Amino acid sequence: MPCSSAIDISDAALDKKIKLTLDDLHLSNEQLTKIMKKMIKEMHKGLGKDTHDDATVKMIPSYVKSLPDGTERGSFLALDLGGTNFRVLLVKIKEGDKLDGKPKIEMDSQIYRMPEDVIVGEGEKLFDHIAMCMADFLKRLDLLDQRLPVGFTFSFPCQQDGLDQATLITWTKGFSAPGVVGKNIVKMLKDAIDRRGDMDVDIIAVVNDTVGTMTSCAFDDQECMVGLIVGTGSNACYMEKMSNIERVDSDKGEMCVNMEWGAFGDDGALSEYRNEYDAHVDENSLNCGKQLYEKMISGMYMGEIVRLVLVKLTDDGLLFGGKGSDALRTRGSFQTSYVSQIESAIPSGMTAVQNILATLDIGAMRHDCEIVIQVCRAVSRRAAHLCAAGIAAVARKIKASHPEQEVLRMTCGVDGTVYKKHPTFSDIMSEKVNELCAGADVAVNFALSYDGSGKGAALITAVAQRAINAEQ
Ligand code: GLC
Repeated sequence: MPCSSAIDISDAALDKKIKLTLDDLHLSNEQLTKIMKKMIKEMHKGLGKDTHDDATVKMIPSYVKSLPDGTERGSFLALDLGGTNFRVLLVKIKEGDKLDGKPKIEMDSQIYRMPEDVIVGEGEKLFDHIAMCMADFLKRLDLLDQRLPVGFTFSFPCQQDGLDQATLITWTKGFSAPGVVGKNIVKMLKDAIDRRGDMDVDIIAVVNDTVGTMTSCAFDDQECMVGLIVGTGSNACYMEKMSNIERVDSDKGEMCVNMEWGAFGDDGALSEYRNEYDAHVDENSLNCGKQLYEKMISGMYMGEIVRLVLVKLTDDGLLFGGKGSDALRTRGSFQTSYVSQIESAIPSGMTAVQNILATLDIGAMRHDCEIVIQVCRAVSRRAAHLCAAGIAAVARKIKASHPEQEVLRMTCGVDGTVYKKHPTFSDIMSEKVNELCAGADVAVNFALSYDGSGKGAALITAVAQRAINAEQ
């Protein structure tokens, strides 16, 4: 029952009660170390032939083996589906500056909104919509008659049996279009293109966004061997020794593995760290019981977790005079972008925070704003720490495969709105990775990766096309 007794409690008692609530969102180094170890165990399980079926972290071979060497050239069409927008890009890799020998990359792109009824509607229609956007884009650039190689960044868990073979395992992140799970998405796209009959494209590669992110970063930084996304969803990939990927028949060289780490915890491995807010977010999601680690980290859920904590504090009479508003009590009303804005607003005082709360029909006093900031910090900090536990697991796993290196230096290319927009997420995460990797002889450096789904996907397509041409 909501009560309005805020004024009856002394400031110290109030602060103590708030601290108690926020303690639910704190993970100690000891806990994070346990999570890291569980992740490493799950990675082994996902890679093993006999253990893979029971693994939550699927460790999917991406068939991206060699990274770009700078000699790639040509025009490519890149498609990017993974969130509420669909992007089509034309990527031209051209002769670059003679001095550094690197090619020049030019891009043109257009964003098309994915309407809600397409995201959750009939699968075939979803691919018809994508094909329609492609045709519109090519028409605008007068390229409908050209046969272009396509790199398709499809950011959902897919079983890959080759670079251009991808079967959707399950939808994530609010997508639920029926009739796609278990199907070859390249075929579905080709069929949609054929139904139109006005385009001539050659789908060369299906790429997860993490893989594109790593590739794009590796183009500029040879030490880049990990890719991370903290956006609407969260996931990571890294270069693994082929001999460790038991489901692929080859022992030579390395391959990028799309971890699909969002599903970590779906077997209960995280239950002791999840709280009432996590349970609520999960119960009200389209994919209940799935992607539990992702739901504690990524942008699709972060604002909602904050909202649930604010409602709890309000109902306990500790916030907003115990009153709140209908908007605050409406699911999804507290956008994740507010979390970044509120935490960025700290130096400029409370007005920015008050303005955001006013959009939710809440008249907030200074003390309310301070509490809201604390809640945002606790939620985003926990997300950064959980992500750090995952990356520390990856770093330690890579190091274990390279005992010959005294200290292994690696770069992790990162993309995603949470990482890019949140004022302290990146610092908090990288600091914690270093703490969790202490004594492991690895040095992890993070670099913002630019346009993995465009540049990265085009580079992967270029490398693959060169191999195809060489075979012919
Ligand atoms: C979800 C998807 C995964 C993707 C991630 C980031 O976790 O399942 O494929 O990489 O979101 O977009």
